[in-house]
Amino acid sequence: MRIVLLGPPGAGKGSVAALIKDRYALLHISTGDILREEIRKESPLAKEIKSYIERGALVPDEVITKMVDQKLTKDLGVTEGFMLDGYPRNDSQAKELDAILKKIDSSLDFVLNMEASLPLILSRISGRRICKKCGAVYHMTNKPPKAAGVCDACSGPLYQRSDDNEETIKNRMSVYNSSTAPILEYYRKQGKLVTFDGDKETNVLFEEFVKFLNENKRFNKNQNASRN
Ligand code: AP5
Repeated sequence: MRIVLLGPPGAGKGSVAALIKDRYALLHISTGDILREEIRKESPLAKEIKSYIERGALVPDEVITKMVDQKLTKDLGVTEGFMLDGYPRNDSQAKELDAILKKIDSSLDFVLNMEASLPLILSRISGRRICKKCGAVYHMTNKPPKAAGVCDACSGPLYQRSDDNEETIKNRMSVYNSSTAPILEYYRKQGKLVTFDGDKETNVLFEEFVKFLNENKRFNKNQNASRN
């Protein structure tokens, strides 16, 4: 299974990805997580990456595409299937992705798009908290930890992402609308786009994903799934 998760910031891509990854044992490639890891490790690119993320701007295509290329061509887990989350994010990345996949004699099965309404997006992003140790995602009201500020799974401390503030969220939404939303058409024309209602609660949404994926197990061979 080779899929892309698309949707605006806070649509719930990471939350659903964590469940899909467990259910289907897929390699989860989140470009946001890869970039935050570069910052955490204080890699040579960390300072540059941080300046883009904190403004809510896209990290330059050549930086991010090189990272995705390495993952897809070198990680052996890719042969079992993968799920891209946060990539591609513009027209040029979508074309680069096709070129990388061609190089490894592969192609995408589906692009699963999550739409969510703006008030929900804003409340989800502002309430999000993440475990510093294991990366588990919580929400102050939708999915609160049992003990305030502490991860249920590993007892690590919870933190708020530096780009989850009002000013940066505005920029991230505007970048999504101007650069990312237009690629929906690219995948619609390829017959690969399937849209889900991201306003629904995570588990409900996840079951809809599972239903779709199970009904379309033959992936590329079955072009009869209901798509938009
Ligand atoms: P990235 O980390 O990819 O952020 P994003 O796309 O803005 O998405 P988010 O992680 O904010 O949201 P999500 O949809 O995963 O929501 P989540 O499930 O966590 O990118 C960050 C930055 O990195 C970019 O701005 C850019 O600078 C850079 N970058 C990344 N990729 C790049 C690329 N390809 N090119 C260039 N630059 C790149 O949910 C959010 C909260 O809501 C959580 O608290 C969760 O518990 C709650 N929640 C989620 N779904 C539900 C639900 N259905 N019901 C109730 N609560 C929910």
